[in-house]
Amino acid sequence: MNPSMRRPLVAANWKMHLVRAEARTFCRTLVGELGAPPAEVVVFPSFPLIDSVVDGLAGMPVAVGGQDLHPRASGAHTGDVSAQQLADAGCTWVLCGHSERRADHAEDDALVAAKAHAARAADLVPLICVGETGEQRKAGKTFAVLERQLAAVLGSEHGELDRFDLAYEPVWAIGTGETATPEIAQEAHAFIRSELARRLGDERGESIRIAYGGSVKPANAASLGAAPDIDGFLVGGASLDAESFSGIIAACGART
Ligand code: 13P
Repeated sequence: MNPSMRRPLVAANWKMHLVRAEARTFCRTLVGELGAPPAEVVVFPSFPLIDSVVDGLAGMPVAVGGQDLHPRASGAHTGDVSAQQLADAGCTWVLCGHSERRADHAEDDALVAAKAHAARAADLVPLICVGETGEQRKAGKTFAVLERQLAAVLGSEHGELDRFDLAYEPVWAIGTGETATPEIAQEAHAFIRSELARRLGDERGESIRIAYGGSVKPANAASLGAAPDIDGFLVGGASLDAESFSGIIAACGART
């Protein structure tokens, strides 16, 4: 990537892991390890952990985000959380359209787009996740899937999103240990970049970060991060341990 244009983004997606005592231990360790990070850093804990993480990372150059939100601002939606509630809890980011939400909760592209716009209405930055399944890749549909997923969030139904970043997370690489090679990931990132440029113009397309997610570890982060269109990482399993998460953050400093 071109460091002068895009600061890398490294985010921890804890999914449905950890309890408060573990979250506090993570924060203490991260505070000790972090120094001046060569990337923008975000932690996405489960809702009940947000308060502990916001407290535990207070004063650190680390933002906190929700893993999901409801597209409406408030209302009778048992079990859901609004953008405003996340912002009130100290979040500045939110994940939208993670493949586990798409699969477990049948979230479609239109809902993901609505969530991204709801996030912006509360001044949260949406980190919008896209990516194909293994079956779709085998069938040669990777670019078609990415194009469809992007069309919904970049489409005009709700107007243009004034701010967002993307995560390319091939579903076949999530939690499987089967990381995409830098070449495979770069090919998808370059395609996403070309779609951004086509729909939003070259300058804006160049400014949006595309993080990679799928079995990222300290050992493979530097080689993935050296690819020109990979602008950081969205990390699952390896983000549960503050030392390995710090190692992934540090790997972003290796590429210039
Ligand atoms: P893993 O790093 O565990 O493969 O998870 C990736 C992911 O889904 C992050 O959102």
